[in-house]
Amino acid sequence: MIPLKRRKVVPTGAGNTGSEETSPNKFPQVVLFLLERKMGASRRAFLSQLGRKKGFQVEELFSEGITHVICENNSGDEVIAWLESQVRGRGRATAHLLDVSWFTESMRAGRPVEILDRHQLQQQQIREVEVVVFSAPSYACQRRTTLDNHNAILTDALSLLAENAELSGEDGRGVAFRRAAGVLKGLPEPVTAVTQLVGLPCLGGHSLRVVKDILENGASCEVEDTKQSERFKVLKVLTGIFGVGVKTAERWIQEGIRGLQQLQDSGRTLNRAQQAGLQHYEDLNQHVTRSEADAVAAVVEEAVASVLPGARMTLIGGFRRGKLTGHDVDFLITHPEEGREVGLMPKVVSWLESQGFLLYQKTTKNSYLEGEDGPARPSSNMDRFERCFSIFKLTEEVNGEGLKPWRAVRVDLVVSPISQFAFALLGWTGSKLFERELRRWAGHKKAMSLSSHALYDNTQRRYLRASSEEEIFAHLGLEYIPPSERNA
Ligand code: UTP
Ligand code: MN
Repeated sequence: MIPLKRRKVVPTGAGNTGSEETSPNKFPQVVLFLLERKMGASRRAFLSQLGRKKGFQVEELFSEGITHVICENNSGDEVIAWLESQVRGRGRATAHLLDVSWFTESMRAGRPVEILDRHQLQQQQIREVEVVVFSAPSYACQRRTTLDNHNAILTDALSLLAENAELSGEDGRGVAFRRAAGVLKGLPEPVTAVTQLVGLPCLGGHSLRVVKDILENGASCEVEDTKQSERFKVLKVLTGIFGVGVKTAERWIQEGIRGLQQLQDSGRTLNRAQQAGLQHYEDLNQHVTRSEADAVAAVVEEAVASVLPGARMTLIGGFRRGKLTGHDVDFLITHPEEGREVGLMPKVVSWLESQGFLLYQKTTKNSYLEGEDGPARPSSNMDRFERCFSIFKLTEEVNGEGLKPWRAVRVDLVVSPISQFAFALLGWTGSKLFERELRRWAGHKKAMSLSSHALYDNTQRRYLRASSEEEIFAHLGLEYIPPSERNA
């Protein structure tokens, strides 16, 4: 159903000759336009007069206010082409495209009859003449981005270019592509022409070119070339090993390593994380499902409850945003009494280890200290929580295939004191772009420094406390965006 556009009703009459008998406009929500094409001028004049007699408003000229376009013997395509020439540059044409049968039945009934399928001219294509020009605020944290992405082909392409830039150490370019993809992810419908994007933020010339290529040619050469590029493929494989970053992968490539087997045969010394990463390569590069995440959650819940009754555990990361799959599972643990969380992580890890759930783990200590004069450098306050990077051995009751009794799953555990819980929750729910944009907003718009630990107001020179995510959004002067709408 095409939405009817409400319009101010202007009395007709002006367009009618004085001799014509017209009734007052009885149906103010209906404004008719009869297409002369194929109908012919005299029949059109006759039908228009008939309509006015019955109390309908019939316009001579096509305009935005028309709600019903009546056509005879025209194909949907022909009408759409004609309409497109009329609405160009003037926003949405939201009219029903109807066969003359709707008109004659309405005349017979003396009122606008219900529009049935048989009255409609190729409804599918009407959408194409809607010249929607999109708009959106600049910061991802001002937008509501659900998982319902209507432009996945475009955003996948831009994300791939972002990934390639990141793998090439060009982080600035990477962010630009991520922002562009972020804007497109939030659009309410598929983009059909680049002209719809003119008013949007974050879409630079490069991103627009990629979008244009895909819309016009079905693919972007740059994206296709990147996908096929040897360097990109090898970098993806090597950085796909848990514990291997871009720097290490680059070094190995320079040393002639092109794949996993070659790496294994080369006898390179790998650290503990990389060894585990290589050993469980296939499992760790296979998506974690929601039911697997739930199975891990049950285990972590039990561990936490066993070592510190009263401690709370929350699923964070992509799964909290409603994603159905993820590359890992993330949990935030706290205790409602400040200080009780101290020493919790080693106990949880020991419990998990004793139960045989861990294939690998590395714990980092909490190194966060609140400075009297605020955070020293914004970045130095990131990720200073007690944190455990681990690989779980998850028995696959959920899988049931019986091929392998267990699989390896990446699990991140984070412990925060209750006083920082809201900041940690917000900071670890993601998406990465949403987080980045929140911090950019805080810095640029509010002269504040936001981290996963705290919010510091540089003007007032004090920390702003919060016990919920809602309060943090309020401090930042932002509308609250729930996790499911942070999928930028
Ligand atoms: P993830 O990398 O796990 O991403 O980080 P994700 O959104 O859950 O998506 P998957 O796992 O690929 O499906 C989760 C959040 O934690 C923050 C990131 O900013 C992200 O928003 N995070 C992650 C940190 O703050 N620090 C880190 O070291 C890692
Ligand atoms: Mn995650």
